[in-house]
Amino acid sequence: MTLDTTNPSGTVAWQKLRTHFEKMENVSIKEMFSNDASRVEKFNIEWQDFILDYSKNKVSEETVALLLELAEEVELKGAIDAYFSGQAINQTEDRAVLHTALRAKENDVVLVEGVNVVPEIYKVKKDIQSFTNEIVNGVRKGFTNKAFTDVVNIGIGGSDLGPAMVVEALQYYKNHLNVHFVSNVDGDHVNEVIKKLNPETTLFVIVSKTFTTQETLSNAETIREWFLQSAKKEDVAKHFVAVSTNIKKVTEFGIAEVNIFPMWDWVGGRFSLWSAVGLSISLVVGFDNFNKLLKGANEMDVHFKETAFNKNIPVILALLSIWYNNFYGAETEALIPYTQYLQKLAPYLQQGIMESNGKSVGRDGNTVNYQTGTIIWGEPGTNSQHAFFQLIHQGTKLIPTDFIGFKKSLYGNKDHHDKLMSNFFAQTEALLMGKNESQVKSEFEKAGLTSEKADFLLPFKVFEGNKPTNTLLIEKLTPETLGALVAIYEHKIFVQGVIWNIFSYDQWGVELGKQLANSILTEINSGEVKDHDSSTSFLLREYLK
Ligand code: F6P
Repeated sequence: MTLDTTNPSGTVAWQKLRTHFEKMENVSIKEMFSNDASRVEKFNIEWQDFILDYSKNKVSEETVALLLELAEEVELKGAIDAYFSGQAINQTEDRAVLHTALRAKENDVVLVEGVNVVPEIYKVKKDIQSFTNEIVNGVRKGFTNKAFTDVVNIGIGGSDLGPAMVVEALQYYKNHLNVHFVSNVDGDHVNEVIKKLNPETTLFVIVSKTFTTQETLSNAETIREWFLQSAKKEDVAKHFVAVSTNIKKVTEFGIAEVNIFPMWDWVGGRFSLWSAVGLSISLVVGFDNFNKLLKGANEMDVHFKETAFNKNIPVILALLSIWYNNFYGAETEALIPYTQYLQKLAPYLQQGIMESNGKSVGRDGNTVNYQTGTIIWGEPGTNSQHAFFQLIHQGTKLIPTDFIGFKKSLYGNKDHHDKLMSNFFAQTEALLMGKNESQVKSEFEKAGLTSEKADFLLPFKVFEGNKPTNTLLIEKLTPETLGALVAIYEHKIFVQGVIWNIFSYDQWGVELGKQLANSILTEINSGEVKDHDSSTSFLLREYLK
């Protein structure tokens, strides 16, 4: 089955939403709260350890009903079934999209071209488990018979961002192994990492789905050369493992087949942390925690697949995002976790969201006539409050913002956690309520300002408010809740892609730059600048001087 190709802007629901928007454009969320004592109950979803409160949005019951009509009209339900059941919905690459199968239960059946892939997934999971245990317990040793102390993940994009984000997020659960990430082709990056390492006690995990990525292969070669300054060629087998679909290329690189963890072409790089791509996660937080991460994601998969759309967290988040993107014209969304542990969540989701939905051609082959692909950005609170919140509060742009907070901290420092969370609650309230003229004036009076000074300052001190936010309040940051949280955003991406009528699982847009970089590298190596636009030729000649 292929996905429906309905242009959303031609649907009845879209037309109704357009008309409805005229009524809602200048609506006051604050007024909607004062007119409806049960607003928060209406726009709230509780699921396991999660609460999604989306009442602080520019939506009425009618808005949500119309957005749900849109979801029905583009046949979202059928699309979800096609996604989970292994249909080749990544049509431009003729592949299924099955990161959800990686966290399926052992007795689940997921068919790809008639073959159940779950037993194979579980076989690889068992290999990850035994490899992890051997490294963590010091059973597998390095070439001088010393236990491993450090793990280096060599990969880029989806082969780096997911593991790096999770390892950072779950550092509370970490064991004694130090972990490092080398991604950029910038030689300074790899050198900065190498200088911290002892070749005798370091394990290198080369992660590349294709095993053709310039950055990863260059870094892997540089690291192997450095390693061979202290070790012999046959020692490589003890210190280098790979995760890839391309067994041939990995063996050509010199890694024995027994040291290759497979992945599958039906797993997209940016959704691959649940596969052996997450080997470094398993190594540093232990296989049990890695498995709990998968379990949390699987439970969110079940929620997404089986819950009515009006109580479905990913569906509601996606529909709200469509509302702001396509009717209010919002271009960006901010994501603010109130925990330092999630500092890499926004960069990680930048790939997920922008590589997936940054497309301008519809599934029918025509250029779309509406906005797609939200720009996502963010930093943890409270740091972000002291950096860019000014623009969210008083700038000219509409920036719908997700606030993610946890009821409990991991170390249980109540004083800090209460301060952190009071900021979390205060920010969404301030963004909603703002501060009007009379409130500002009474503050001026109390402060004893002269009327001249007060008149001058008044417009600058007023906060319009009415800024939309979602609040995700979660019990505690655990491997399970992290897995579920990431799965929420994965499914939000899917729903938006379905509605926008685009193919979310290819990434042709990153290819052109790669091709040009290769031909420019040939010119740099030969010292001969060929035909370019005059700006590029000028810059290349300057570089070669
Ligand atoms: O940036 C493009 C991309 O193909 C990503 O989608 C992918 O995550 C990354 O490159 C790395 O690819 P690979 O795992 O094949 O090295």
